[in-house]
Amino acid sequence: MGNEIEKRRTFGIISHPDAGKTTLTEKLLLYGGAIQTAGAVKSNKIRKTATSDFMEIEKQRGISVATSVMGFDYDGYKVNILDTPGHKDFAEDTYRTLTAVDSVILVIDCVKGVEEQTRKLMDVCRLRHTPVIIFINKMDREGHDPYYLLDEIEKSLNIHTRPLTWPIGIGSDFQGVYNLFSKQLQFYLPNKTRISDDIDLYIENLGDSELDNHIGETAANKLRDDVELIEHVYEPFDTGLYKEGYLAPVFFGSAINNFGIKELLDTFVRIAPSPLPRATEQRPVNPDEKEFTGFVFKIHANLDPNHRDRIAFCRIVSGKFERNKFYYHTRLDKKLRFSSPTSFMANEQSVVEEAYPGDVVGLYDTGNFKIGDTLTEGELLQFKGIPSFSPEIFKELINNDPMKTKRLEKGIRQLTDEGVAQLFIRQPGNVKIVGTLGELQFEVIQFRLLQEYGAACSFQPISYYKAFWFTSANKNLLKQFIITKAQHITWDKDERPVFMARNEWTLKSVNEDYPEIKFHYTSEFESDQRKSLVSAD
Ligand code: G4P
Repeated sequence: MGNEIEKRRTFGIISHPDAGKTTLTEKLLLYGGAIQTAGAVKSNKIRKTATSDFMEIEKQRGISVATSVMGFDYDGYKVNILDTPGHKDFAEDTYRTLTAVDSVILVIDCVKGVEEQTRKLMDVCRLRHTPVIIFINKMDREGHDPYYLLDEIEKSLNIHTRPLTWPIGIGSDFQGVYNLFSKQLQFYLPNKTRISDDIDLYIENLGDSELDNHIGETAANKLRDDVELIEHVYEPFDTGLYKEGYLAPVFFGSAINNFGIKELLDTFVRIAPSPLPRATEQRPVNPDEKEFTGFVFKIHANLDPNHRDRIAFCRIVSGKFERNKFYYHTRLDKKLRFSSPTSFMANEQSVVEEAYPGDVVGLYDTGNFKIGDTLTEGELLQFKGIPSFSPEIFKELINNDPMKTKRLEKGIRQLTDEGVAQLFIRQPGNVKIVGTLGELQFEVIQFRLLQEYGAACSFQPISYYKAFWFTSANKNLLKQFIITKAQHITWDKDERPVFMARNEWTLKSVNEDYPEIKFHYTSEFESDQRKSLVSAD
């Protein structure tokens, strides 16, 4: 069991769209031997052309179920890549998937540098102190200077960096990378479809004139200066700081050309954490505990009316998961048995007999699961750390058919349990406000409510800026705040009050007027504050 845990590496690849996440995923699978040629896996990539057609996107998502988790063996390790949608409208899916990984690889395009989605994803990683490895991609293109990129990453992503490789030239001058630790020089040989044997040159002493023979005098002198500067400026790489999420090792390469990937993978399996303990409301759970525990972080509903099944993705936290064994669904206080738990790989599904901490199993579901649900062997536990984040687009749900009110109620509750969107209720009047990160979700909801629940609805935009959960040790003040600001208060799915700010200024002004109240951008905060919130209700 200990060995099974030790050898697992469960991680996600994240990036701003187009930085190269899909390409890198595929190349890692190629190195892992999970696929034989590039192009064999249609990853979770939603094509740009499909952005206005959500049924097309759902089709793509159908493909993406198959690549939700991609597992392969590499050098004695069992690597699990949890795929995340690149499309920004599905960012919430990505945030939730990040709760199920133990580390991430962040891909940055050397031409574009740090982009909007890179920043948001890093914010989510920082919340959980997730260890991050950075891969600076597309070095074959005329990008920014590496010093500029490292500086930008440190400043705008608020993380310390430590290059482990260093590029020789960039764009048309790109000649390869120098490994600062193994002191090996790897020459750049573009190859889009196969992994070639990289040609390495071991250079013990950079002063050696052999370097000039290989890369030319100018590039050799530049590399000498660069390496001297790096060794002078940076501390030696500290794995502990990386594991704390404080320091990100940086690699340079070109995913499309299979360049720099092997080094990335070799280092990743060596330094990335094996499955980590996770917090529950009751106690921390260690992966090496004998009894099985796990939590659902993603639910995939099938839009095809002939196949209404849903798949709940469960990350195993401790113990061994076994097929056909009864497990305890703690929220429903109910025992459930799974006869065909599934793993997905490169468009193939297979039934899993057993799975270990760090693995993800797909459980066929007829409506028992909500995002965040916990399974155990009998102990009453509830995993923490699956927060909701404030949506960015808000619309009021309008019931177009008063005869179907009940169906609409049920439908919208179930869809929000699945994580399609968030629901906030404003009183009086039971006004339903739906919040999402993208316009597409509204189309999905409208379509699914009609198709699956027979309820016709429409949406009316509301100009909210963001939703904030709030807490205070001063319970009377909380009560007073809720009454005074009634027109700005809604209640989330767990009946917690949420402050809907119309703009940044409104938030600033309540922050100033109520210094004793803390406003939270996510739904999960310190449990003591949470208790005070609950008792205030
Ligand atoms: P994403 O999943 O992060 O959205 O990015 P993806 O891998 O799809 O890559 C986005 C584009 O960047 C693709 O081109 C891909 O071929 C290209 N790309 C990835 N890595 C490199 C690299 O190292 N160098 C260069 N020059 N390009 C790279 P596309 O034209 O948008 O798509 P496609 O038609 O090639 O699939």
